Amino acid sequence: AKAISDLVASRLRDVADFPKPGVVFKDITPLLGDADAFGDVVRALAARHTGSVEGLDGLDAVAGVEARGFIIGAALALELGVGFVPVRKAGKLPGETVQRTYDLEYGTATIEVHADAVTAGQRVLLVDDVLATGGTAIAAWDLLSDCGADVVELATVVELAFLGGREALGERAVHSLHVVGGVGDA
Ligand code: PRP
Ligand code: MG
Repeated sequence: AKAISDLVASRLRDVADFPKPGVVFKDITPLLGDADAFGDVVRALAARHTGSVEGLDGLDAVAGVEARGFIIGAALALELGVGFVPVRKAGKLPGETVQRTYDLEYGTATIEVHADAVTAGQRVLLVDDVLATGGTAIAAWDLLSDCGADVVELATVVELAFLGGREALGERAVHSLHVVGGVGDA
């Protein structure tokens, strides 16, 4: 766990004052651009769902949140041999959808999935690149639940612990490869 956490840390780029003054943006593009590191990250995320952790295997699908969750999620779905469900920003999906709206610092955001993207009782792994306040993940998790999915876990590459996303998620389980502001991160 420390090795993969360190690997993620080594392939993150901190960008000061993006998208606004005072925010340090955690940019994953160096990780994505390194095939070995990207592969290691995808395999580490997959490993929990191939029998090594009780109750987390037997997935039916991976769901990822637009946009960066698509990059990690599609790769992870292929690695696990299951289909991919896109959770999109509103207005992009052509079929009948189910939506959730959540609060941002200023205003709200709406995400949606195709109503037939998951069937009742399907075991779905939710994936995103970064867990920050948890607003996106909670909305995506609850949206999939609205569709009847059994969401087994939220998997993220990076968790910004100081923003309290894990606490906000409550009972919804989270697994992050690298925790910024957590144990072992200096
Ligand atoms: C970013 C990130 C997560 C979300 C985390 O997405 O990719 O999806 O914010 O923040 P939260 O935990 O506070 O909700 P964003 O919509 O900013 O950009 P993207 O379209 O590049 O994924
Ligand atoms: Mg995102």
